[in-house]
Amino acid sequence: MKHFAIAIDGPAGAGKSTIAKMIAKKLNIIYVDTGAMYRAVALYCINHGINCRDKESVEKILDQIEIKIQYIDNVQRILLNNEDVTDKIRTQEISQGASDVATIQAVRIKMVELQRNLAKTVSVVMDGRDIGTHVLPDADLKIFLTASVEERANRRYKELIQNGIECNLSKIKEEIEARDKNDSCRECSPLKKAEDAVEVDTTGQTIQEVVNRIISLIPKQF
Ligand code: C5P
Repeated sequence: MKHFAIAIDGPAGAGKSTIAKMIAKKLNIIYVDTGAMYRAVALYCINHGINCRDKESVEKILDQIEIKIQYIDNVQRILLNNEDVTDKIRTQEISQGASDVATIQAVRIKMVELQRNLAKTVSVVMDGRDIGTHVLPDADLKIFLTASVEERANRRYKELIQNGIECNLSKIKEEIEARDKNDSCRECSPLKKAEDAVEVDTTGQTIQEVVNRIISLIPKQF
C-alpha cells in the first residue's frame, strides 16, 4: 500500500504540533516533529561550546551527531547519540539555537535525509518549515498553518504560565518575531507556503475547529 503523507508547515507558535498530533491520533498514523531534530543539533552544539551561528564549527562536528527517532506508545522521542533528549530541547535558548543551525545547508541535508527515510516506511503527519516545499513535495495534503503574531505570543505565554514558568509577554512576542524573520529570510529552504498548500489561519479558532477543517481536506481515497 502506498504510504500517505500530510505536510504541515508554518511559523513558530501557529499550533502545528498540537494539531498534527491530534490528526495523527485520529488517522492512526505517525506524527513526525522535524523541529525536534534541529533542536537536538542545537543542544549538541550548546553542550559542546559551539556557537550555533558559526557555520564552519557546526559543519565540523556534524558527523559526531547521530539523531534517531523512536516511538513509544505512538509518541515521538528524540535520541541524540543514543541519549533521549526529548525533554531537554524546549528551552528558549534551544529554540533560538535551532533556528540558527537550521540556516546551515549541511545541517538541513542531514535532517532532510532522516525525514524522507521516515516517510518512506510509514504514513505520516510531518510538521516543520519546509515539508511541503522541499522534504515531501509529493505529500498527499499540504497545509500552511498561520496565526497572528499576537495570538501566537499569547498562546506561548499562557502555556509557560500554566507550567509555572515566569515570563514576559512582550519579550515572547519579540522572540517569535525574531525567529519568524530568521526562518523566512534564510537562503536554504526558507519558511514559505508551498504553491499547492492550503493556508489555514488559526487566529480565533479552536483546536478542534482547525483539526476538523484539515480532516475535511484529506483526499477521499484515503
Ligand atoms: O518547530 P520548532 O519550533 O520546534 O522548530 C525549531 C526551529 O527549527 C525553527 O525555528 C526552524 O528554524 C527550524 N526548523 C526548520 N525546518 C523544519 C523544522 C524546524 O528550519 N522543517
